[in-house]
Amino acid sequence: MLAQGLSLLALSFFAVHATILGKDAVLTIESTNYDFIIVGGGTAGNVVANRLTENPQFNVLLLEAGPSDAGVLEIQIPFLCTHTTPQTAWDWNYTTVPQPGLNGVAIAYPRGHVLGGSSSVNCLVYTRGSRADFDRYAAHTGDDGWSWNNMLPYFKKSERFTQPSDRHNTTGQFDPTVHGFSGLNSVSLPGAATGIDDIFSAAINELGSDFAFTTDTNTGNPLGFGWAQAVIDGPTASRSSSSTGYLAAEFLSRSNLHVLLNAQVSRIFSGSLHDSSDQSLLDAQKEIVLSAGSINTPQILLNSGIGDNATLQGIGIDPVIHLPAVGMNLSDHPIITLSWLVNSSTTYDDFNRNTTILNEEIIKWQTTREGPLANGIAQHIGFVRVPDNSSIFVNTVNPTSGPNSPHFEIFVSNFLLGDTPPDGSYLSISAIMLTPGSNSRGSVSLNASLPGSPPNPFQPPIIDAGLLLSATDVPLMREAVRNILRLASAPAWRGYIMSPANSSQPSYSASDTEIESYIRENSRSAYHVVGTASMSPEGGKVGVTNPDLTLKRVRGVRIVDASVLPYVPAGHTQATVYALAERASDLIKDANVE
Ligand SMILES: Cc1cc2nc3c(=O)[nH]c(=O)nc-3n(C[C@H](O)[C@H](O)[C@H](O)COP(=O)(O)OP(=O)(O)OC[C@H]3O[C@@H](n4cnc5c(N)ncnc54)[C@H](O)[C@@H]3O)c2cc1C
Ligand SMILES: *[C@@H]1O[C@H](CO)[C@@H](O)[C@H](O)[C@H]1NC(C)=O
Ligand SMILES: *[C@@H]1O[C@H](CO)[C@@H](O)[C@H](O)[C@H]1NC(C)=O
Ligand SMILES: *[C@@H]1O[C@H](CO)[C@@H](O)[C@H](O)[C@H]1NC(C)=O
Ligand SMILES: *[C@@H]1O[C@H](CO)[C@@H](O)[C@H](O)[C@H]1NC(C)=O
Ligand SMILES: *[C@@H]1O[C@H](CO)[C@@H](O)[C@H](O)[C@H]1NC(C)=O
Ligand SMILES: *[C@@H]1O[C@H](CO)[C@@H](O)[C@H](O)[C@H]1NC(C)=O
Ligand SMILES: *[C@@H]1O[C@H](CO)[C@@H](O)[C@H](O)[C@H]1NC(C)=O
Ligand SMILES: *[C@@H]1O[C@H](CO)[C@@H](O)[C@H](O)[C@H]1NC(C)=O
Ligand SMILES: *[C@@H]1O[C@H](CO)[C@@H](O)[C@H](O)[C@H]1NC(C)=O
Repeated sequence: MLAQGLSLLALSFFAVHATILGKDAVLTIESTNYDFIIVGGGTAGNVVANRLTENPQFNVLLLEAGPSDAGVLEIQIPFLCTHTTPQTAWDWNYTTVPQPGLNGVAIAYPRGHVLGGSSSVNCLVYTRGSRADFDRYAAHTGDDGWSWNNMLPYFKKSERFTQPSDRHNTTGQFDPTVHGFSGLNSVSLPGAATGIDDIFSAAINELGSDFAFTTDTNTGNPLGFGWAQAVIDGPTASRSSSSTGYLAAEFLSRSNLHVLLNAQVSRIFSGSLHDSSDQSLLDAQKEIVLSAGSINTPQILLNSGIGDNATLQGIGIDPVIHLPAVGMNLSDHPIITLSWLVNSSTTYDDFNRNTTILNEEIIKWQTTREGPLANGIAQHIGFVRVPDNSSIFVNTVNPTSGPNSPHFEIFVSNFLLGDTPPDGSYLSISAIMLTPGSNSRGSVSLNASLPGSPPNPFQPPIIDAGLLLSATDVPLMREAVRNILRLASAPAWRGYIMSPANSSQPSYSASDTEIESYIRENSRSAYHVVGTASMSPEGGKVGVTNPDLTLKRVRGVRIVDASVLPYVPAGHTQATVYALAERASDLIKDANVE
């Protein structure tokens, strides 16, 4: 469709804010001609930028809409992850349309708008999903390269497992055989002991069965409970992001890597189709790589006339390529939290409500690179599969990706995860429902505000998260809440857990109906958005990219970010995005051998 070997990209950026990192020059781009232009300096984009510039023959431009992450304490300090979004200088500040599955509430939908993208603002939990998730990607695309066995080397390649900041003995707390130790994304176990660690261990021992201890939940078989891993660089007690790792100074100094900040791309087009009103044009000789994430990648495609012909025409955009799946099939995870007032003076609640105490802790963190701020939000984590003979699946398809894959995740926090009350010490246990049913699909579409004229590409798209729309969703959430209540009722917590933090929270003896109404009222997004530019088999009618992530029916454009995942994995999504971007980098290099 597009001219062979040549693709043009239009972008509009605010020149006064544009900065080229790693160079003295500011305000100008040295050239308008690159081999590769990567759109989005986020989780995936920075991996691709790093790996492509390993080849000195490739001249790469990386464009990021947001500012630099350098020196931002909220981003660097692991515990402060909940302070990085929503509605901050590093957020796109999106809101969904009212969600019918959540009693009609429109929810905040943060996305990183900063170098590192969502890896700079997420809550650091490191989970890979299950073997069956990846084997399903392989089956879905007909490309065995996406199977668990073939992706495990890419998980390891991206990873640098580090000693935790308190240098405690981690023998038996993780399985070294499934981890990488020389990659660019640091991972670590909790770096500071808490008052709940021994109680949690005793509680899961008391409960057994679903709560059985497992050394490591990242082996491909996540079932069981154990220590939470997070993208924390232990020795520096800092967040590891795609920016801190893949764009470290030694890589930014490569003369073939150019990083432009505050540069927001509006659309891409072929040589014959550009229009003189475009503010700035850049030319990619080999490929454009779209890595703008699950919201903005489909937005850029739709603005470019790549989407459903009729829908595009209806909002004043000339269709270029008819690909109806663009922006469709958005999939995400719902999350719910229960909290209790506890008998403790060592929870982390004060850090979230008293700036004097927080500032003292920040000084300790800066000087010692140790202490509670070195921890993320989860101290312990577990994954549970609902039995195949459960009544939930009698009349509906079990949405699991395959055997031994979990339906929900539980994680335990040494503070109240949510709006911190003015006083008291708390414990929170959260559940993420990992297997949304096939009706739980949302979308990203363009907002046609003025009839007849095309949407402004710099205005937010319309986002529907599609949460809790399938018959199995709320019942699986209910099982997850019952699991939380069982965990909290273990004898080990006696004398520690005092009372529910909120009287509307269901108790152990609550009815299914009570729990289900609590779920509809209180579930929110875990922000694990995928599927809006899904990969599908070569030549397949549905989908947006081929299994090698090339945009269907177009030459010279590839999509590398969470949007290509046809199903959300049974875990938090960043580890998958890193591994996906590592494999994509190899695919791009192989396709462009000189
Ligand atoms: C608040 C929050 C908490 C989360 N918590 C966790 C967690 O604990 N663990 C976990 O594993 N996952 C978590 N996730 C999910 C995870 O972070 C994402 O799935 C992953 O980072 C997505 O990577 P990506 O490369 O697809 O997109 P992103 O990392 O979002 O990168 C997209 C980049 O493109 C840029 N961009 C967008 N549009 C344009 C444009 N038009 N022009 C130029 N640049 C553009 C963006 O600014 C951004 O930098 C969380 C996400 C959020 C938002
Ligand atoms: C998001 O909101 C914050 C706070 O109002 C603001 O500083 C920031 O610029 C906004 N982000 C974007 C992308 O507009
Ligand atoms: C760590 O603990 C394991 C098992 O408890 C023990 O075998 C090992 O010697 C310890 N390592 C160090 C360095 O103390
Ligand atoms: C979609 O629009 C493009 C551009 O106008 C056209 O070439 C193509 O035939 C259309 N496809 C369909 C299925 O309508
Ligand atoms: C969404 O995904 C499903 C499952 O792969 C597929 O059958 C359907 O066609 C997709 N929808 C669109 C609009 O692409
Ligand atoms: C915050 O903590 C400090 C130090 O413990 C204390 O003196 C102060 O009263 C607290 N502030 C508030 C608003 O509670
Ligand atoms: C499911 O199977 C298990 C053992 O295989 C059995 O104990 C349990 O009662 C069954 N549950 C239902 C709902 O049939
Ligand atoms: C669409 O844009 C209009 C005009 O800017 C705005 O009022 C409206 O809230 C937007 N709709 C959505 C769903 O964001
Ligand atoms: C609080 O915990 C202490 C031990 O840490 C115990 O002595 C005390 O009885 C507990 N208080 C309550 C009300 O359970
Ligand atoms: C308790 O939860 C309900 C929602 O279920 C909420 O409206 C209310 O504000 C909460 N109360 C407190 C004290 O947080």
